[in-house]
Amino acid sequence: MAMTFAPVRAAIQGLGVCIPTRILTNDDLARMVDTTDEWITARTGIKRRHLAGPDESTSDLAIVAAERALADAKVSAEDLDLIIVGTATPDMFFPATACLVQERIGAKRSGAFDLLAACSSFVYGLITAGQMIQAGVVRRVLVIGAETLSRLIDWEDRRTCVLIGDGAGAAVLGPATDGRGIQSGMVGADGSAGDVLKVTAGGSRMPITNEAIERKLHRAYMDGQAVFKLAVRAVPDLIRKTVERAGWRLEDVDLFVPHQANLRIIESMRDQLKVPLEKFVVNIEEYGNTSAASVPLALWEAVQAGRIKDGDRIVLAAFGGGFTYAACTIVWGR
Ligand code: UT7
Repeated sequence: MAMTFAPVRAAIQGLGVCIPTRILTNDDLARMVDTTDEWITARTGIKRRHLAGPDESTSDLAIVAAERALADAKVSAEDLDLIIVGTATPDMFFPATACLVQERIGAKRSGAFDLLAACSSFVYGLITAGQMIQAGVVRRVLVIGAETLSRLIDWEDRRTCVLIGDGAGAAVLGPATDGRGIQSGMVGADGSAGDVLKVTAGGSRMPITNEAIERKLHRAYMDGQAVFKLAVRAVPDLIRKTVERAGWRLEDVDLFVPHQANLRIIESMRDQLKVPLEKFVVNIEEYGNTSAASVPLALWEAVQAGRIKDGDRIVLAAFGGGFTYAACTIVWGR
């Protein structure tokens, strides 16, 4: 007897975010380092960023986002099969931040692991979770992008400290109905460009020593121009290919949700893809670059603003340290 198996796609069934209450404006930064509101606004598009308080860690932000996403999806933590936390700023080396989340939200049946692809981690996580649902390995997955980059930044380095913010975003994934859900996904990396964005000390290669601290090697280093060039070269092509794999044309896409690293990077992608302004979500002004949290934060805001309706064709795209990049296409709805 011939049998056909309809592929079970994974859909986003609920979203939640955690936005720290402490706000740092460009004028606040101008009192800390040699910079101005004009420079930051013109070069990056950022006006404000939210920062975790001294007692708030990455898992604290992740847990708030997770509980909100579960409530939005009307899914109980005990129904989760897996938790993936995408982060470059875990609470500690191990246990994984995902395990801390698992315990605190009471996801007793769930597996848990962290995924590190820097700012691309959330999109990497969605694609990973989507494949596991499609393969029937798991049914319900919580994918979180959570980050406290403020803990890794050198607050005396004006080239990096003006760019970042903290936050978390979470998505509950489950089996989709009627062809909705993730349609295609692509991940990529260029390890030869690893030096453009890195934290050198603190791992097995170079433990944190007094010398490392004096040389600030435990802080994030970035060659901004190199990252800029890599992003504008790699991501538009990645988006084109991911859209093609879904069987769509670029003009079929209703909304693009890009990683929020720099307004000029987003504008360059938009120009290269020849997509109208209103089809790109931009919220960098309010949050700065929140790394793995940036895509879910932007997606959540778009949903809140009523910019996404059932059946819409959405593209998520991210890039970051590694160098890593990832994109996926989604037909919106549960
Ligand atoms: O998630 C991925 C992570 N990172 C990114 O996506 C970052 C990508 N890169 C960028 O966003 C941009 O390269 C930056 C915003 C980091 C820098 O903008 P830029 O237009 O590439 O500036 P630049 O590095 O060429 O610097 C221009 C000038 C320099 O002065 P001189 O050498 O021309 O005298 C910098 O020292 O601006 C100076 N500068 C600043 N001035 C005021 C650098 N940072 C600041 C600052 N305030 N905060």
